[in-house]
Formats: sequence, structure tokens, C-alpha cells
Amino acid sequence: MQPSQKQEAKLASAVLGLLIFFLVMTIVAVKKFGIDLPGCVTNVAAFTKGEVIERAPKHYEIHYVARMWSFEPANIELPTGAEADIYLNSVDVNHGFQILGTNVNLMAVPGAVNYSHVKFKTPGKYSVVCHEYCGSGHHGMTTTIMVSDNPTHAGEAQTRAGPPVELSLDAKAGSELVVTKGCVGCHSLDQTQTSIAPTFKGLWGKTEVMADGTKVLVDEAYVKDSIKNPQAKIVKGFQPIMPTLLVTEAELQQITEFLKTMK
Ligand code: CUA
Repeated sequence: MQPSQKQEAKLASAVLGLLIFFLVMTIVAVKKFGIDLPGCVTNVAAFTKGEVIERAPKHYEIHYVARMWSFEPANIELPTGAEADIYLNSVDVNHGFQILGTNVNLMAVPGAVNYSHVKFKTPGKYSVVCHEYCGSGHHGMTTTIMVSDNPTHAGEAQTRAGPPVELSLDAKAGSELVVTKGCVGCHSLDQTQTSIAPTFKGLWGKTEVMADGTKVLVDEAYVKDSIKNPQAKIVKGFQPIMPTLLVTEAELQQITEFLKTMK
């Protein structure tokens, strides 16, 4: 039996009604519940330094770096009503990133930058947690965002950390190599000393005590030798777990040049 024109008209209006209903629900979700519609992939390049940038009054851009087992910047403060564009990446393995009490729930993926947007309407202490198992320190991988009417350091304290250091071309290439080759998974770039490997910060020019009690100056020869023969000399207190890296002579030089800047 052929459907009559009347039936067709009924069907058409039912479909139209459904479409309008879905459209209205989408608008309600966005306006009333603050749910983000999927956006485009960001064009922000991967970064290794966390920071809070104030773009306009009460409008912040936050670059979060996830690493075993912390978030940078840590424990920031924002004013009530602050809007934040959140960019997130990881310098070692996959991590989770959830701001409890908000809709922000992201994955931190090495080499990729993920984005979310949030408005902190009510003051309070917001916890940020890693929800992807990432090793023995996973459970302690948290930080906070303190939202209050009169924050003492609304972002700025973490933003400006001295004048930017001008790196040579080789050192800059080296700074990227320590990320892509995975070095920073075990060697931190700031003071946070992990139990896995000595931090890179302040390493250059230091005298290290080896497992056998001998002392070695961290210079060009030592650094290159350590990368080529990681098991040869082990710093006291650490396990001989560093893998041998496949690097060219040029890359070896670039990593060395970068480590020189980490005094
Ligand atoms: Cu990072 Cu779990």
C-alpha cells in the first residue's frame, strides 16, 4: 500500500520536530550545563614548561605539563569567575587530567596537545587528579586550583620565572631530543628529584659520587660517555636501569649542549 500524502506530511513534521528538539537540547546543554561541544584539534605546539598566562582580566591561558608524577604549574590561584583555556600535554607517558567539580576531563598524551575550557563560577579549592594509571606514583599525582575572590597570586606568581634563556640552535635541538628520546621520563628538568635518575637541573659542572665511591665531574666527556655507555658509571643511590640510546654524534652533541644550559 502506498502511503498517502497525509501520512507523508505527518512523517515529515515528526522528523522536523525531532530535529528541532535535538537542536534545543544541544543549546540547553551548552548554555545551562556548560557542556563543551567537540572542538577542533589545537594548533598549539607541544611544550615542556607549564605556565599561567593572563590574556585579559579574569581570562587565563594555562599550559599544563603532566609528568611522572606531578602537574606543572602546581597549586595555582585564580579569581572567582575566571575563565581558563586549558592546554595539556605530557613529557613522558599517558596521564589523565580531571578537574573535579567541573566538566574538564582530558588525557595528557606525549607529543599531542589537548584542549578544554572552563569557567570557575564558585570559589573553592578544585582538585586536579590523574585518572590514568602511570606507575608507582600515580596515586599521588594531584594538584589544586584555588579559586577565591581575592587571590594573592592570581596566576602571576607562576607566570614570570625570570628572563627567558636564549638557547643556541644546538641546545634548542637538544632540549627537544631529551623529550623525544624519552630522557625526561626519568631525569626531571626542574628540582623535582625522582628516585629513578638524577635530575638534569644543576647537573652540569657538579661532582657526582659513583656507586663505587669514586667522584666524577659532570663535563662533556662524562655526559657523552654516560649516554653511550649508561652502565659504565652509576651515580650512587641509583639503579643501573638506563637504556642505551640510539643517537647520532650530532644528536649527542646537541643533548650535551642542552645539558650545559641546565646549570
Ligand atoms: Cu599520571 Cu596517573
